[in-house]
Amino acid sequence: MIVNFSIFILSLSIFTSSANAEATLSVSPTTLKRSGDIVNIEWSNIDSPSDLDWLGIYSPPNSSHDHFIGYKFLNVSATWKDGFGSITLPLTNLRSDYTFRIFRWTQSEIDTKHTDHDQNPLPGTKHLLAGSENVTFGNSVDKAEQIHLAFENKPNRMQVTFVAGDGEERFVRYGQAKDMLGNSAAARGIRYDREQMCNAPANTTVGWRDPGWIFHTVMKNLNPAVRNYYQIGSEAKGWSEIYSFISRDMYAQETRAFIFGDMGCATPYNTFIRTQEESKSTVKWILRDIEALGDKPSFVSHIGDISYARGYSWVWDEFFAQIEPIASKVPYHVCIGNHEYDFPAQPWKPDWAASIYGNDGGGECGVPYSLKFNMPGNSSESTGTKAPMTRNLYYSYDAGSVHFLSISTETNFLEGGTQYEFIKQDLESVNRNKTPFVVVQGHRPMYTTSNEVRDTTIRQKMLEHLEPLFVKNEVTLAMWGHVHRYERFCPISNNTCGKQWKGSPVHLVVGMGGQDWQANWAVRPNHPDLPIFPQPEESMYRTGEFGYARLVANKHKLTVSFVGNHDGEVHDTVEMLASGEVISGSKDGTKTSNSAVAPAPAWDVNSGSKDNSESPNVQTVPTSATLVGKSESDGSWVVKGVGLMVMGLVLGFVAGYFTGMKKGSSSRSRWIPVKSEEI
Ligand SMILES: *[C@@H]1O[C@H](CO)[C@@H](O)[C@H](O)[C@H]1NC(C)=O
Ligand SMILES: *[C@@H]1O[C@H](CO)[C@@H](O)[C@H](O)[C@H]1NC(C)=O
Ligand SMILES: *[C@@H]1O[C@H](CO)[C@@H](O)[C@H](O)[C@H]1NC(C)=O
Ligand SMILES: *[C@@H]1O[C@H](CO)[C@@H](O)[C@H](O)[C@H]1NC(C)=O
Ligand SMILES: *[C@@H]1O[C@H](CO)[C@@H](O)[C@H](O)[C@H]1NC(C)=O
Ligand SMILES: *[C@@H]1O[C@H](CO)[C@@H](O)[C@H](O)[C@H]1NC(C)=O
Ligand SMILES: [Fe+2]
Repeated sequence: MIVNFSIFILSLSIFTSSANAEATLSVSPTTLKRSGDIVNIEWSNIDSPSDLDWLGIYSPPNSSHDHFIGYKFLNVSATWKDGFGSITLPLTNLRSDYTFRIFRWTQSEIDTKHTDHDQNPLPGTKHLLAGSENVTFGNSVDKAEQIHLAFENKPNRMQVTFVAGDGEERFVRYGQAKDMLGNSAAARGIRYDREQMCNAPANTTVGWRDPGWIFHTVMKNLNPAVRNYYQIGSEAKGWSEIYSFISRDMYAQETRAFIFGDMGCATPYNTFIRTQEESKSTVKWILRDIEALGDKPSFVSHIGDISYARGYSWVWDEFFAQIEPIASKVPYHVCIGNHEYDFPAQPWKPDWAASIYGNDGGGECGVPYSLKFNMPGNSSESTGTKAPMTRNLYYSYDAGSVHFLSISTETNFLEGGTQYEFIKQDLESVNRNKTPFVVVQGHRPMYTTSNEVRDTTIRQKMLEHLEPLFVKNEVTLAMWGHVHRYERFCPISNNTCGKQWKGSPVHLVVGMGGQDWQANWAVRPNHPDLPIFPQPEESMYRTGEFGYARLVANKHKLTVSFVGNHDGEVHDTVEMLASGEVISGSKDGTKTSNSAVAPAPAWDVNSGSKDNSESPNVQTVPTSATLVGKSESDGSWVVKGVGLMVMGLVLGFVAGYFTGMKKGSSSRSRWIPVKSEEI
């Protein structure tokens, strides 16, 4: 009796306390020191928890409810059903405080018109349950972050670019020992403003955030091929930790580079655009390789589609925070991609390019790209708007035995234009005794066997205007991005395989840095409805795995290997000898581990189901696949799941699609024939 009564009292008090208690939301610590520091977010007293309850992440704290940086559902916490839980988040320094809010969203409030780029409804903000204190980076907003290096025109120099919260002068001090940073260079800060963005979302309250101040300076008179230590800051604002890099050596016999395109970043939250978990692996493996190189110099070349911020300002910050471990150690070079630049009013838009050059830049019109990077050379073009000039378009540099040329496929590259003249003059003036190999890089490919229908005309124009220059001037290798796959071509000219790279450059598509939507491989001409994607003669190897290319060269040989993110191993290799000979590593199973070819792992099958296309005109999606919506302003389609597709067909489809090994190679035993599936 007494027991029963006390239970009654107890349950009554629980009832009343939970009915009256407000939901609470707390954060700790409330002061962070630099990007990547972790905050622990705890909540309690959530009444009748629902799996639509969510946590909004805001910066600055006065952002309106709809204008979050990102969000997470509370159900990621194991105890969410009991009305309490916690989430830990690494935060990137956005030079403003953060704050957090919990909202209840209900089924009836799901608005299928208010969606992210993937057509997922964005959570509703009608019912605020709790708000938190602010989390601040305090004085650390004045510290240099997002540090990245680049070559300069003069080989005994290195450029460094970084971001801080205010525009006061900063310095880089540097030297050959950690405790002797005797040299100093002043860094000037510049910034850009919302009014200089060309379109939405970059110029809206949703996408725009204060980008801070971008600083740039040059470390000069560096001794060749030695480790240099450097630190950034000022007496007033404090100093960064000490970083180091190996200086450039014009007389180096060897060249080492990591090359890929189309890499964004991962975020620990959902946001308005899809972010890339895969990009973390790309960064991880490249870091492993850089560390293994010790004091040997190397550099990175990211061939366009950088960060995929597309107008959501803070994604650039997340991106630079993610690549800093690499980019503060080795030069990080870039080419301009459609997602940095394309905007409706872009000044060069010939009729044939009307549907090619769309609004893929999310209104940035190349401004963050032009200001946040400083490449060698001085190419620039007007945007035709209030936006500053577009920079870092085309430039070249030598590294060891290789002359590298980076070009822009987003601005005029046709004969008669400024860029064409630059390319022509550059290729004609290469000293082949010094650099027997020439590598050209640009974003959109001249060759691909993916069904990139939208870009057919641009490929034709590139073949017509640029290929003759490449052929005549004996370009060794052309590397491209944009298609989110790895594909290696035979030495090729005018769509025909040649025997040597002299007169038939090898082409590689290396857009496999982390983006997971892409057009299928091209279909059989007579079976557009039921594609098996046969691999054309000129395509030597193609795969759907993520990863990056490793380039190694000396005076005699240039080797490129494809490293897969799933295992960090080499899956394809091609060697180009100074004589002109091209040796396909994948065809020779007896070679060193460098040319080992492994079968595609099981996860590839799953990643295939996420595939879609960058092209609005793709007709090749399997009929039985489920289309779940148009994503992105440039008209991508997301394919989720292979639906009713029969299993046998799926296997054939996947094998032809992903492993893509050339039939007739010595790895034939690993090739899963798809022929029997061709109905
Ligand atoms: C959490 O809730 C979201 C939104 O309702 C749902 O999509 C997701 O599957 C849930 N996750 C878990 C682990 O329950
Ligand atoms: C937030 O505050 C800053 C100044 O502190 C102001 O410039 C900005 O317009 C405010 N934003 C909103 C959404 O109120
Ligand atoms: C959070 O910061 C904003 C200004 O950025 C301020 O108005 C607000 O009072 C702060 N909130 C708390 C709980 O300190
Ligand atoms: C963004 O840019 C577009 C195109 O110039 C313009 O029409 C629009 O008014 C701008 N939006 C804002 C908020 O400035
Ligand atoms: C750009 O650089 C080239 C070569 O270094 C030089 O000839 C040219 O004058 C420069 N142009 C401008 C506008 O600075
Ligand atoms: C390219 O090949 C086509 C046939 O495939 C041929 O008609 C054309 O003349 C060739 N062009 C050159 C420049 O060799
Ligand atoms: Fe692209």
